[in-house]
Amino acid sequence: MAASATAAQRRAGHGERAPHAERERHAERLLRSTAARSYDPELDIDWSAPLDEGKGFLLEHRCSLYGTALWERLSPAQRLELRKHEAASVTGTGIWLEMLLMRLLTKVAYDGDPRSRYVQYALAELADECRHSTMFARMIERMGTPAYRPPRAIHELARILPVVAYGPAMWGAVLIGEELPDRLQREMVDDESIQPLMRMVNRIHIMEEARHIGLARAELVRSMSRLSRAELPYQRLLLARIAFIVARNLVNPRVYSSVGLDPREARRVALANPHHRETIRFSGEKLVAFLRDAGLIGTPGMRWWRRSFLVGPEGPGGPEDPQA
Ligand SMILES: [Fe+2]
Ligand SMILES: [Fe+2]
Repeated sequence: MAASATAAQRRAGHGERAPHAERERHAERLLRSTAARSYDPELDIDWSAPLDEGKGFLLEHRCSLYGTALWERLSPAQRLELRKHEAASVTGTGIWLEMLLMRLLTKVAYDGDPRSRYVQYALAELADECRHSTMFARMIERMGTPAYRPPRAIHELARILPVVAYGPAMWGAVLIGEELPDRLQREMVDDESIQPLMRMVNRIHIMEEARHIGLARAELVRSMSRLSRAELPYQRLLLARIAFIVARNLVNPRVYSSVGLDPREARRVALANPHHRETIRFSGEKLVAFLRDAGLIGTPGMRWWRRSFLVGPEGPGGPEDPQA
């Protein structure tokens, strides 16, 4: 692909203008699935149902301080409270990611042919994400926590994402935003210790995200096949940087104030906590394997992947890996 890609094909990589029979068939199937199986959280969730006191919004072992000396000092009620705030933080970051994703989807639709099933599906997915963000916003409101979001500098930096991201890194960014939360949601959707309201929100999100993830993975592979060799380092480095930023911003340090802990100290403890590092690795496990197979994880950018904890110091992508 690399050497034979024409300038027109590369431009198509930016604009996604080229018609593609397989892509059209995929989009057609997704449009039918969207019509048959979509949810309206305003109607399908009973937002007025009382919360189940004693149940958590996040699995205990997924709390960033779980297993540390700081965790041991917290009372059961404080642990429950911290889990709620961390769940609100992940949900708030989810809204932030979906806003960015919507801008990327708008870019796809803006550049494409509105008669294509592909563009029509991009618009359908945009509608899904609009409903998801509203659903997450209501969930945070219901939890009664602050609206956590990434810090101002990251918030501002992310504005350039739709400009700098195209092709594999753009679809990779979409997948980071979708697959990391998805893996954590799947783990708790059937767990009786989790608040029923949270489980319902997760169930709706998991079902609708399966379509999005399928399309993004297929598009990533297609855009990789059109990529020139010269563009690969940029794509790898950009995606590695995005992965690091997302992984570091799942838990806002301000959540620790909710149980009287110093945010700076608790943040330091969390980042050194092997349980927390394992949670991050777990959330990205399937995605990292996919991105590695696609050739998007490698030099340059390995430093960011390891610092994010999505790729461990050992194993694939680690120092022992000849491709690293
Ligand atoms: Fe979503
Ligand atoms: Fe999505």
